[in-house]
Amino acid sequence: MPTLLNIQSSPRGQNSLSRTLSQDFVTAWQAKHPEGKIVVRDLAETHLPYVGVPWITGVFLPTDQHTDEMRQALALSDALIAELFAADEILIGTPMYNFTVPANLKAWIDLVVRPRVTHSGPPDRKGLVTGKTCTLIIASGGVYDAGQPAAASDYESGYLRRVLGFIGITEVDVVLAGGTAAVSFGSATIDELADKFRPAVRAAVR
Ligand SMILES: Cc1cc2nc3c(=O)[nH]c(=O)nc-3n(C[C@H](O)[C@H](O)[C@H](O)COP(=O)(O)O)c2cc1C
Repeated sequence: MPTLLNIQSSPRGQNSLSRTLSQDFVTAWQAKHPEGKIVVRDLAETHLPYVGVPWITGVFLPTDQHTDEMRQALALSDALIAELFAADEILIGTPMYNFTVPANLKAWIDLVVRPRVTHSGPPDRKGLVTGKTCTLIIASGGVYDAGQPAAASDYESGYLRRVLGFIGITEVDVVLAGGTAAVSFGSATIDELADKFRPAVRAAVR
């Protein structure tokens, strides 16, 4: 029975293209895996903290030297990491904000990229979250596909591939769902725009 970890970051609910397309992905995934389990991590609702001194210190100290504050900071990180290890497939639906990931997704990344837990640290620097596949659905106002003038300003898809690969998640499909400015300015509906990306989203379902 495969498990899909569905991570969502847009705060825009039904007006969100990344959520609309992620829902299509989930529906197609369920049809393919009727017995499958889906775990949702909604970063627009979870309000993760930024890593601070108790987390940073605790990460490098043996557990028997942890203070209560460190234990508390690491417990959330442990829970998010456990979700990753328990998943066979990961879906990340996210907007592009200022050419990269939104702050809530970055907060999640900072909590799950952890030496000796999700990567080995030096000298090997091996990712430890292996055997997973991941699909990224990235919605943006502009269009960043290869060959487009703005393509070089996409600091999100390459960054996500890099950081996921760093913890061992190397099999990553990316759907760049650009062009939501047309919806914001009223020249297209979200469904019309979504239709353009639905074939790529369905093709990404394993
Ligand atoms: C704070 C903020 C920053 C944004 N930065 C960019 C950007 O750098 N490039 C871009 O193409 N669109 C940008 N946008 C537009 C969003 O990427 C676009 O609205 C996208 O559809 C949001 O994803 P969602 O539809 O899933 O909510 C930005 C929007 C906001 C609110």
